[in-house]
Amino acid sequence: MIGDKKILYSGMQATGNLTLGNYLGALNNWIKLSEEYECFYGVMDLHSLTVRQNPAEFRKRARMLYTLYIAAGLDPKKNCIYFQSHVSAHAEMAWLLNCFTYMGELSRMTQFKDKSAKHADNINAGLFTYPVLMAADILLYQADVVPVGIDQLQHLEITRDIAERFNNIYGDVFTIPEGYVGKTGAKIMSLQDPTKKMSKSDENINASIYLLDDPDTIIRKFKRAVTDSGSEICYREDKPGICNLIDIYSATSGKNRDEITREFDGKGYGEFKLAVGESVVDILKPLQARMKELQADKAYIDSIIKENAEKASYTSMKTLRKVQKKLGLTERIR
Ligand code: TYM
Repeated sequence: MIGDKKILYSGMQATGNLTLGNYLGALNNWIKLSEEYECFYGVMDLHSLTVRQNPAEFRKRARMLYTLYIAAGLDPKKNCIYFQSHVSAHAEMAWLLNCFTYMGELSRMTQFKDKSAKHADNINAGLFTYPVLMAADILLYQADVVPVGIDQLQHLEITRDIAERFNNIYGDVFTIPEGYVGKTGAKIMSLQDPTKKMSKSDENINASIYLLDDPDTIIRKFKRAVTDSGSEICYREDKPGICNLIDIYSATSGKNRDEITREFDGKGYGEFKLAVGESVVDILKPLQARMKELQADKAYIDSIIKENAEKASYTSMKTLRKVQKKLGLTERIR
């Protein structure tokens, strides 16, 4: 708790351009929950290094992600929004927690298996211990709740296991965090292959809606979205493409599945795809406009980067010092 509020922690990797999946699965929930909790949101730039980055592009993209959090509606005066690499406690805590994590449990992580298959020429140790750094992120802030999409739940589970293991030995050091998955939008699928999740790193740009795509591009991508050969708009297992579009429309319009199937009863795929596209354009419009304004105000963004990094350092350092002491590391002489 900070004051009378519970603590919320979340973040995104600064890899690739943010997609509608990131928005509906995570960012949108962050905004909904931000008044109720004391919130910390990281731009996870250290995690991004598990894949080779072009330094100049990476720097630009990380800053863009930072700005996007604010453009989407997070108030940087009320929420602590910061770069993971600006707070050294993350890397330090990750080392300590590495010593409480087993090779066996890390080998079972599906994201590690997927990413190793995708980057077979660069299966580095960082990719393997990636969930430990994520556990460090969350546990440093004593988070009660972690809003994520479904794909991150396994990492949250290992975070809880590590925290419980540590607490069993050293007492109640860490708060055990709960995952928060939204009712809609928790797993948005690719528009070109609805059996795969929509991903920032998809090579096919038509598979993902990027948050800064212009309206024409968004509508075009929805028109091209892969569906099935039928014509009925209903939520059925054999219609993964239509299910995905219904989920997107539900998350953007607030209507539930039944309302949507009724609304499009007897109408064709073309009309439905257009409605989904327009509803996505509508929710992204204010974010895109705010993004332009914020990008023009470098001094403002710089000032909040600095202020929030200090706040995150202060909060995280309290937990790090406590953990170091519990472990028996020699205290600093002041
Ligand atoms: P990342 O950067 O892959 O994704 C950021 C958030 O977006 C969600 N998400 C999706 N939700 C619905 N449908 C999709 N297609 C979709 N794709 C992504 C993810 O579930 C996530 O919530 N390891 C994390 C970043 C991280 C983190 C943390 C998150 C590092 N430390 C601490 C929470 C707490 C990741 O790679 O997310």
